[in-house]
Amino acid sequence: MAKFRKIGILTSGGDAPGMNAAVRAVARKALDEGVEVVGVIGGYSGLIKDKIVPLNPRSVSNIISHGGTVLYSDRCPEFKTEEGMQRAIATCKKHGIDAIVALGGDGTFRGATDLTNRGIPTVGIPCTIDNDITATDYTIGFDSAMNTTLTMIDCLRDTCESHARCNVVEVMGRDCGGIALNTALASGAVAAIIPEIPFDEQEILSRIKTLADAGKRSFLVVVSEGVVTADGQKYGEVLAKRIDAYTGIETKFARFAHVVRGGSPSLRDRFTATAMGVRAVELLLEGKSNVVICEIDGAITHLDINYALIADRMYKNKLKTGDLDPFTAAQIADMQKLAAKRKAELVAVSKMVVHTSK
Ligand code: ADP
Ligand code: F6P
Repeated sequence: MAKFRKIGILTSGGDAPGMNAAVRAVARKALDEGVEVVGVIGGYSGLIKDKIVPLNPRSVSNIISHGGTVLYSDRCPEFKTEEGMQRAIATCKKHGIDAIVALGGDGTFRGATDLTNRGIPTVGIPCTIDNDITATDYTIGFDSAMNTTLTMIDCLRDTCESHARCNVVEVMGRDCGGIALNTALASGAVAAIIPEIPFDEQEILSRIKTLADAGKRSFLVVVSEGVVTADGQKYGEVLAKRIDAYTGIETKFARFAHVVRGGSPSLRDRFTATAMGVRAVELLLEGKSNVVICEIDGAITHLDINYALIADRMYKNKLKTGDLDPFTAAQIADMQKLAAKRKAELVAVSKMVVHTSK
C-alpha cells in the first residue's frame, strides 16, 4: 500500500451540488487513514497562488447538505500554461502535497493528467450538473440540478394551465441535453429539444396546435442551452416566438440558467459523492493515479483519465488526429460501444417524451 503523507483536495470548473459532500468524504476518509489533508482554495488558481488550508474532521462539518463548494471554484486559463503548471507544482512541493484529488468536469481532469505527468499523482471525481462525462453514467450534481429544474417547471405548469399558455424553458447543460431531456419527461413537456438529437420544428408546432385544438390547455417545451440557430442565437427564445405566432397560444420564455446549479444536494448526490470520495482515497492508497472515478451500471469503479477523455471526445465527435493511437483495438471498440449506448439512451427518453405528452 502506497503511503501518502498529505493529499490536497480542489474543486474546479462549474460548481455542482454535492461537491461539498465529496470534499467531506475525501477529507474524512483520508484523515481516518492517517493521511494529512489540505484544501486548495479556488481550484487550480489556488495551487498557482499558494492558497492552501489544512483540513481536519471539523473543517468539513455541516457541509454535506450545502450547495456550492466551500473550497471555491474557478476557471483558470493560466493552469494550461507551462509556467502556471510549474508554479502549481512548486506549491505542492512547498506544502509536501503528495497527491491531488480533483473534483470537476473534463477540463479539470485534463489539468489533473498534466499534474500526474509532472509527478503529482491525481484522482478525478466527476462533478458537474451537465452529466456530460461519457465514461461515467453519472456525475455528482446532475440529480440535484434536475430536481431543482423540475420544481421550477412544475411551477410554470400551474400558471400555464390557469392561463392556457405555453412556456418554453431553457436549461443549462452546455452541449449535453441530459437535464433538458429528463426534466421534459418528468414534467410532461410536449417536447425536449437537445443538441444531440435532430428535431423537426414544424412537427412540434403542428403537434402543439393539434393538441390545443383538441382541448389541451397548457404546454411546456424544454430546450437545452446548447441548441442554437444557424446565426448563433439561443434557440429556446426564438422557438417561443414561433410557437406564439404559429399556434396563437400565448407563449412565454424562461431561462433558468445558474439557479439550478445551486441549492442543497439531493440524497442521490450526497450518497454518490460520499461513495466516490471514499473510493478516491482508497485508490490513492492502493497506488493508483491518473484515474477518474466512474459509476458504471450502478457500481463505483474507475478508469484511466486519458481513456475517459478520449472516449468523451469520440462521443462528442471531437477526436483529433492521433487521439486513438495509444489505445488497443479492443479499447477503441469499447469506446465506440459506449458512444452508441449514450446516444441510444437519449433517443429512448426522447421517444418517451413524445409518446407520453398528449
Ligand atoms: P470543467 O472541469 O467543469 O470541465 P473547465 O473546462 O472550465 O471546467 O476546466 C476547469 C479548469 O481545468 C480550467 O479552468 C483549467 O484551469 C483546467 N483545464 C482545462 N483544460 C485544461 C487543459 N487542457 N490543460 C490543463 N488544464 C486544463
Ligand atoms: O458545466 C456546468 C455549466 O453550468 C454549464 O451547464 C453551463 O453551460 C456553464 O457551466 C456555465 O458556465 P459559467 O458558470 O462559467 O457561466
